[in-house]
Amino acid sequence: MARERLDKMLAGRGAGSRREVTGMIRGGLVTVNGVPCRDPAQKVDPDADTVCLGGCALRTRRERYVMLNKPGGVITATEDAAQETVLDLLPAAERRGLFPVGRLDKDTEGLLLLTDDGPMGHALTAPRRHVDKLYLAHITGTLRPDAAAQFEAGIVLEDGTVCRPAKLCVLEKPPDDGLTAVEITLREGKFHQVKRMVAAMGGRVVWLKRLSMGPLTLDPELAPGAWRELTDSEIEALRHAIEP
Ligand code: URA
Repeated sequence: MARERLDKMLAGRGAGSRREVTGMIRGGLVTVNGVPCRDPAQKVDPDADTVCLGGCALRTRRERYVMLNKPGGVITATEDAAQETVLDLLPAAERRGLFPVGRLDKDTEGLLLLTDDGPMGHALTAPRRHVDKLYLAHITGTLRPDAAAQFEAGIVLEDGTVCRPAKLCVLEKPPDDGLTAVEITLREGKFHQVKRMVAAMGGRVVWLKRLSMGPLTLDPELAPGAWRELTDSEIEALRHAIEP
């Protein structure tokens, strides 16, 4: 992790404005590894150094948030002896501590968030937070005419499981191959949920891609298998989405 100026690091972690933290540092309120530091320009290593303000240790480590465009054919796991995982798509040096937030099937493509921020990951997948997930699916078969209304009411899956209300929108422009394109918005994440909901309505999913999760939208510049760090405003929007 790159070293940062002490004043910038403190301000970036919410200790105060840049001016306020400069005053705190000059006023002798800050120690780095137990040694008082009065130089706002002092470089610190957020991963290794212990910074205290008024005697209290601050959380200095920066969490990581990575947007991946998951390709089909890789499994959503951190490691596997036999199959390629989503973590294998990142160089080894970039993987430390990252885990996938939620799960996409092996053949599902699209937006997958990887992070080392445990509380954020758990909050985004907690059923009570209702973070919307938008999927694009190409399906075969003929959906029941009341499929959209059934989605709204809460579909009953073939095994009797009742789903939360969801949204189904049949797109006007069908894919070239005689299939139907639908967008489905879910507020939960049951195992194979989209496939099972479509099956309960008489269709079969042959291709599935996640386009968004809460405020996060898949970056169209990311080719399948490509990834990038989230921007500060994307991270801020995610934090906002999980506020109680
Ligand atoms: N629903 C599915 O059926 N599969 C996924 O990967 C995600 C949602």
